[in-house]
Amino acid sequence: MDAPANAAISQNPFLAHKPSDAQIEEVVEQAYALIEDSLIYYQGKAVGCTAAVTDHVAAANYTECFIRDFFPVALILLMDGKSEVVRNFLHTVARLSAREKQFKGHEITPGVMPASFSVRIDEAGAESLSPDYGDRAIGRVAPVDSMMWWAILLDLYVQYTHDHGFTQRPSIQGALQHILHLSLNTTFEVAPTLLAPDGSFMIDRRMGVDGHPLEIQTLFYGMLCSAEKYLARTSHTAEVLLVAHQRRSALLTYLRIFFWLDVRRLNEIHRYPTEELGSGSVNMLNIYPASIPDWVEDWLPDYCGYFVGNLGPGRMDFRYFAQGNLLAILFGVSTQDQTRDILNLYEKRWSDLVGVSPAKIVYPAVDGLAWELITGSDPKNVAWSYHNGGNWPVLLWPLVAAALEGGREDLAWSAFSLACRRLQRDGWPEYYDGKTGRLIGRRSNFNQVWSAAAAILSHKMLVEERRIPFCLNV
Ligand code: GLC
Repeated sequence: MDAPANAAISQNPFLAHKPSDAQIEEVVEQAYALIEDSLIYYQGKAVGCTAAVTDHVAAANYTECFIRDFFPVALILLMDGKSEVVRNFLHTVARLSAREKQFKGHEITPGVMPASFSVRIDEAGAESLSPDYGDRAIGRVAPVDSMMWWAILLDLYVQYTHDHGFTQRPSIQGALQHILHLSLNTTFEVAPTLLAPDGSFMIDRRMGVDGHPLEIQTLFYGMLCSAEKYLARTSHTAEVLLVAHQRRSALLTYLRIFFWLDVRRLNEIHRYPTEELGSGSVNMLNIYPASIPDWVEDWLPDYCGYFVGNLGPGRMDFRYFAQGNLLAILFGVSTQDQTRDILNLYEKRWSDLVGVSPAKIVYPAVDGLAWELITGSDPKNVAWSYHNGGNWPVLLWPLVAAALEGGREDLAWSAFSLACRRLQRDGWPEYYDGKTGRLIGRRSNFNQVWSAAAAILSHKMLVEERRIPFCLNV
C-alpha cells in the first residue's frame, strides 16, 4: 500500500523519499530476525526476550527480559498467533511478583513486579529465574510501570485469545489483587494521581520525573481498567473493585482538566491568582505564573495542546513527554479534541518532536544548571541525548498507533518512512542524539529489540491495516 500523497507528507522537509515496498519488506524481515534471536527460554518454553541482541551491550542487564521492553514484542506475537509465549510471560512475571524480598528494616512487598528478569543456569544445569526489582539496577531504581504494563498486556492477551480461563488462575488473580492493593494505598496523597519516585518507568534515571509523572498516570489508568475487568468479583474483592472504579474516574477527570495545556489554559495559568485557601479556589495547586518557562509561549501553537509532564503542589513541569501523551490517546485518557490537538502539535512541531529519527522522548532538553540539578550531572543524560531529549525508535509504535487513532494516517506514514530509512541501516540503535535525532546515541546499544519491534508493529498497523485493540474504557 502506498502512502497517501497528502499535504502533510509532501511538506515534511525530512521526508525526501518514501521507501519502496521492497525496502520496507527488507526492514521488516530483518526486524523479525532480531526478535527471533532475542527470545529467552525457561524450562523449554519461550517466556520473554532480551532487551538487546549483541555481545557488546552498554550494560550487562540488556541481556535480561525487561517487562516494558517485551510489551511491543508481545503485541507482535499476539498478532502473529503466537499467544502461548505471551501467556508464559504473563504467568512467569505474575509468579515473580508474588515474591517478598527482605532488606534491613524494609521489604519489597508482593505485587511489585521486577523491572527485568533473567534465566540463570547453575553448574548442575538447573535453571532458575533471577528477577531485578530495582535492587540490582544502576541507581537502584524500582519500577512502578512494570505492573501496569503487565496488567494492560493481560487485557490484550484476552482480547486476542478469548482465554478468560487464564485470568482466573490463582497466580493471575493474586497478582491483580496485589497490584490494586499497592497502587490504591497511597496514604499521603490528596489527588487521584499516583505518587512515583524519580526514574521509575521508561525513564529509569534521575530526570526530575518524580512526583506525578504523566507516563505513570496514563499507565495507572490503563492498569485500573484492566484490573477492573479481570479481578473476579467476590465478597473479598467487592470493596477494592469499587475503590478502583472511583479512582479511575477521578483520575480521568483530573488528567483531562489539570494536566492539559493549550493556549487558553496557558492564559489562565499566566493570570492565576495565588495563595488561595479553602474550597472554590481556581489555582488549587498554587502554581505560580512566574514558573512558566520562557520557551512555552513561543513554542505552543494555536489549535494545539498536550498533557504536561508532571503536576503537584506548586509545580507544573511544562516539558512535553511523548510516551505519556501518546498512551493518553491510546488508552482513551484524552478527549477527541485533545487527541486532535496533540496530533496537531506533532504536525506543527514535527522537527522538534520527530526530527529525522522518530521520536523525541521529551522536549525540550534541560541544560546547564538545570541539567546539574535535575539529572545530578548525569553525563549520559546531557542535553539532547538519551532520556534528556534523545530520540527513541521504540516511540514509533505508539506514535503510529496514536496518529491512526486520531485519523492522521499522514503523520503515521511520515514517521514510519523516516524509521524505515534509518533504523535497519544504523543497526537498530536504542536511541539517537541531537535536536533532530541525526546522530546515533553516543552510548547507544545496537540491535535493540524494542526498536525493531516498533518497526514491525508500525508495519502491521500501516500496511496490513491491523489495529491494537486497546479496549480500556470499561
Ligand atoms: C534503559 C531504558 C529503559 C529500558 C532498558 C532496557 O534502561 O531507560 O527504559 O527498559 O534500557 O532497554
